[in-house]
Amino acid sequence: MSASEAEVRTIRIFDTTLRDGEQSPGASMTVDEKLQVAKQLARLGVDIIEAGFAISSPGDFEAIRRIGAEVEGPVICSLARAKEEDIKKAWEALKDVPKKRIHTFHSTSDIHLKYQFRVSREEALKRSVEMVKLAKSFVDDVEFSPMDATRTDPVYLTEVIEAVIEAGASTVNIPDTVGYTTPEEFGKLIKTIKEKVKNIDKAVISVHCHNDLGLAVANSLSAVFNGAGQVECTINGIGERAGNCSLEEVVMALRTRRDFFRADTTINTEEIIRSSRLVTKITGIPVQPNKAIVGANAFAHEAGIHQDGLLKEKTTYEIIRPESIGLSSTRLVLGKHSGRHAFKTRLKELGYELTPEEIESAFQKFKHLADQKKDIFDEDIEALISEEIEKTPEVYSLVGLSITSGLNQKPTASVKLKIEGKEVEMTEHGDGPVDATYKAISALTGTKSSLLKFDVKSITGGTDALGEVTVALEEGGRTVRGHGADTDIIVAAAKAYINALNKLAGR
Ligand code: KIV
Ligand code: ZN
Repeated sequence: MSASEAEVRTIRIFDTTLRDGEQSPGASMTVDEKLQVAKQLARLGVDIIEAGFAISSPGDFEAIRRIGAEVEGPVICSLARAKEEDIKKAWEALKDVPKKRIHTFHSTSDIHLKYQFRVSREEALKRSVEMVKLAKSFVDDVEFSPMDATRTDPVYLTEVIEAVIEAGASTVNIPDTVGYTTPEEFGKLIKTIKEKVKNIDKAVISVHCHNDLGLAVANSLSAVFNGAGQVECTINGIGERAGNCSLEEVVMALRTRRDFFRADTTINTEEIIRSSRLVTKITGIPVQPNKAIVGANAFAHEAGIHQDGLLKEKTTYEIIRPESIGLSSTRLVLGKHSGRHAFKTRLKELGYELTPEEIESAFQKFKHLADQKKDIFDEDIEALISEEIEKTPEVYSLVGLSITSGLNQKPTASVKLKIEGKEVEMTEHGDGPVDATYKAISALTGTKSSLLKFDVKSITGGTDALGEVTVALEEGGRTVRGHGADTDIIVAAAKAYINALNKLAGR
């Protein structure tokens, strides 16, 4: 290692996709979905996974417990308010986890203390210290957040930070809870904390920025530049309101401008695009095409002068190699003549560990797809195997579907389903083939759910591409998402609807 390399600090990545990210409107995930995301976050190499808020719901509690039991590598963390019952619940969820952290928080801004919690600054400080001590009696690794730190009196803020470090916090997180600060101001605050908090060398300074003014990444980078050692972020920047600092942006900014920040992370950046796609698929929250790093246009050069430069020398207009985030230029992997072995090898390379039965079932689907589609890409394989990974019990399965529709024809769908071993059939009309299909499925299953969302996208290019449909259904206050992929988009739509109905029926 050269002398200048030795000066490059390693910044910890604390991923909160499963906690703050899940607070995005409509992004709630099932325990199985959270587990899938957590396994991908481990492949991505995040340092800490905030797996949930144990006391907030039985689902969060179970997700933390299962992620802790099944995901190796990162530290697993639960959020807890600075309350005894929260901290005890976080401990209960984490107690068997080998690498664990309790993250407790209390507001410190006068606005919050006066109007929301109606407690004095002294009382807030006392509770924070007591609850850090309680958390420390359970785990070594305790993080404390003074919520709304950027609107807190800085003198009081440094007092709180010093006291919680004294009480045992090994990470102090500075949240810009309402996305109010600016890069220069936030950088100064981090510098002040470093200078004024006497015991700051005993803790890592973390930052947690919200994106209300579109400044979350810039504010986090400014904090790193001024000494922060941990960044809290989410995949695709999802999160409360306008979201959190985007993991892929902050990580790639540090990697690309390591020369400037003198800091980097240990993230396996080749896993970024897969992580982004998985979170989009599971949450149903799309990524805007022009989003930095993971947007569909992030590496698309349109201007002739740019294309000319790129053909001559990539670095003329490309500051990040697409391959470095996992976008491969040689994406064609398999075709009609590929055998079981090649398919199994590719699944392994993509990071999937399936049982022999799951591999066989996915291979049959692959063969079927290869008959319809000449070139099979990684994205196609991922769509195919998502059903195997999801493991939703099949109360309903699609056995047959035929459609008539076209110009001046009444769209008609005949649907055959297997429901608990028995085949049933129904024909319905609709204002389009999807509407007719959904009416037939709805009548056959007797569902009372309502369709909140219907989204179609093509997985790869070309008219033979797989179409992927995502739906969101609501029934009795519960929302679930369903996915279906097929070269026929009406079949994909039927599969997505049935997948969501199975999720509703399964719990
Ligand atoms: O935004 C925030 O302040 C939070 C805290 C719980 C860290 O999410
Ligand atoms: Zn937050």
